Amino acid sequence: MKHLKMTCAGLFLLLASVTLNAQGWNILRPVEWQKYDDGKARIVINADLGKETISRHIYGHFSEHLGRCIYGGYWVGENSDIPNTRGIRNDIVEALKATKIPNLRWPGGCFADEYHWMDGIGPRDQRPKMINTHWGGVTEDNSFGTHEFLDLCEQLETEPVICGNVGSGTVEEMSKWVEYVNFDGISPMADLRRQNGREEPWGVRFWGIGNETWGCGGRMTPEHYADLYRNYATYTRNYGDNRLMRICSGANATDYHWTEVMMRDVGPRMMWGLSLHYYTRSSINRRASATQFGEDEYFDILERCLAIETAIDRHIDVMDRYDPEKRVALVVDEWGAWYAVEPGTNPGFLYQQNSLRDAILAGLSLNYFNAKADRVKMANIAQTVNVLQALILTDEAKMLLTPTYHVFEMYKVHQDATLLPLDLKTADYAFGGNSIPAISASASKDENGAIHISLVNTDPNKNISVEIELRGADTKSVSGRVLTASAFNAHNTFDNPEAVKPAEFNGARLRRNVLTVDMPSKSVVVLEVK
Ligand code: AHR
Repeated sequence: MKHLKMTCAGLFLLLASVTLNAQGWNILRPVEWQKYDDGKARIVINADLGKETISRHIYGHFSEHLGRCIYGGYWVGENSDIPNTRGIRNDIVEALKATKIPNLRWPGGCFADEYHWMDGIGPRDQRPKMINTHWGGVTEDNSFGTHEFLDLCEQLETEPVICGNVGSGTVEEMSKWVEYVNFDGISPMADLRRQNGREEPWGVRFWGIGNETWGCGGRMTPEHYADLYRNYATYTRNYGDNRLMRICSGANATDYHWTEVMMRDVGPRMMWGLSLHYYTRSSINRRASATQFGEDEYFDILERCLAIETAIDRHIDVMDRYDPEKRVALVVDEWGAWYAVEPGTNPGFLYQQNSLRDAILAGLSLNYFNAKADRVKMANIAQTVNVLQALILTDEAKMLLTPTYHVFEMYKVHQDATLLPLDLKTADYAFGGNSIPAISASASKDENGAIHISLVNTDPNKNISVEIELRGADTKSVSGRVLTASAFNAHNTFDNPEAVKPAEFNGARLRRNVLTVDMPSKSVVVLEVK
């Protein structure tokens, strides 16, 4: 009798659950929902409650005159045998366009604060040379300058972000650069531009006022830089309809005091954005390799990467105090993994390989930038070609796409889409007594109503079942792609350039607005739900 009663109660609950789901009440199944330690993850996505737009500029890039990023990277010169358009490699342009690259920050980095733009215009054979003191002490012949960079941006169909020289430059020099690039009328700088072959101004909106002014950009106190910033900002003028989006050189990693002083002494009226630089480095191995590592270093790097979340939250807390309306953008204009250089390469060139671990790091970071879309309006991975966490590596005429490239290509669906709020409960990935969340997720809805969900499984040893309830949506189909490999240090080489690349994903099933996803260990998945 007792047994019969229990069976009836169970049947009633089951029927109630099915009925309510069928009626679209979107109930959660309570008992299962509470159990987060069952090795699974559960996500509720509110598909009808999106407010914020994910700025496409979160998927931006940074390219410096450093090592083989520009020379031997994008720029091969007009006489090269490598197919090029006006000296710029066609294969790189094509590959980056496929990611919908939204912006490109240039010329540095530390290089920006010793770069004098006038050395990089006019006939190439007459341009003065300089020493690139920050990066390997090599001679810079200035053959890639303002015109070449802006040609690259036009070929990429991307928006330029120019970082001006505060450390060793002058207010006049930066002011003239803006006039050269943006003024349409008759003026000394606009005339010089025409003389150098460009009639129309380029109309560049994004201007960085110095780089790492607390470090390689001048070793300044925040108070001193805040004064200088206002001075430079005043003389970088708006021409015509072009309202400059000035970016104030911001904090290193967890220097919240720097953010405080910029918000207090400069404030929303004079800056569009305040930058933040956050690199992920190993905390257990100073010579950490990009490809030769065990699970201890795998875990450590992901744990260090996730610390950006706390850093961003705390910088935002400071910004919120001065700017509750969120007028100032947080611009993470340098981020990514920083390892020891590849054996046998110039230590000043920062050339490193790129593995599946970096793809996972990129997926985690981009998911978090998306989550903070109301404040984070731009982020630039360092650096696009041949330097640090690159998307593209080249060896003479050969070119390969790294696992990080594939994440940017897969995640492009989030650009300018509406961020969908989500709740995530996940099991942990534990190693050596510490743990990080096993699953990370982000969701957005594009202008056609398609929902995209990017998921990361950090656990290198376990597949994880993820149940995703889509509330406020009427969904019919799911498709997706997955990026994974058999080893967490898998990477692409010039001999085997497609060892890590996206594949069709068949591990997601959709039933009544509930997705069940079998996330492979150490993987990144992007789903499209319609
Ligand atoms: O990306 C390499 C260097 O890292 C940049 O030049 C500098 O801004 C940062 O310290």
